[in-house]
Amino acid sequence: PTPFRGVIAIDGPSGSGKSSVSRRLATELGLRCLDTGSMYRAATLAVLRSGVGLTDAATILKVVEGATLEFGTTPNDRYSLVDGDNVDVEIRGPEVTAAVSAVSGVPEVRAILISMQRDIIAKANGIVVEGRDIGEVVAPDADLKVYLTADPNERARRRSMQAGADLAATAADLTRRDNADAKTTRPHDAAPGAVVLDTTHLDLDQVITALHELIAHKGTE
Ligand code: DC
Repeated sequence: PTPFRGVIAIDGPSGSGKSSVSRRLATELGLRCLDTGSMYRAATLAVLRSGVGLTDAATILKVVEGATLEFGTTPNDRYSLVDGDNVDVEIRGPEVTAAVSAVSGVPEVRAILISMQRDIIAKANGIVVEGRDIGEVVAPDADLKVYLTADPNERARRRSMQAGADLAATAADLTRRDNADAKTTRPHDAAPGAVVLDTTHLDLDQVITALHELIAHKGTE
């Protein structure tokens, strides 16, 4: 069969398993992979580094407009650059995680990053794109849309294991972020046409198998 070379949108709340699933799926299909959360995180780091504070949308926008943001899309060698500086580790840290909703909540910042995302998607010959608004806003014509979700306790458990952090604190942080994100995207709702996959009782292998089946069905529709 001819290899799948389309666009796969994977949305879902924090801790639903999007990142591991997207990377593995892209690797197995030989596709590019874009983590749009890291783009909002990189923009946030640019704002934190500039020292302007997080209260004024116009100031935040000016910093993001002035920053040079670059993103790699090779599944197992993804990188994020802010003004040429590799920020992969720093954008996952607690300072950026605490600040990201303030930056991703500025509509003009979203417009800039969404336009970058669409450029990257257009140039890739097949890509898995993960985020919150991919199936609904960024790539409504995606060939396959998936909404990954999991029970909040299970999401907190996975995140706290990943980060080596306290479970209760992680659960509180996930709830806070989901609520903050819900002001601009719809982390609790699947996009129209998305296949909902509840991963509460599934491991990574089972999720990947389910997605391969969905893609195989696409080819025979
Ligand atoms: O998936 P993540 O935790 O790395 O995402 C970081 C933040 O970026 C998240 O709190 C919400 C925001 N985000 C967004 O608003 N839209 C996206 N497509 C992806 C992430």
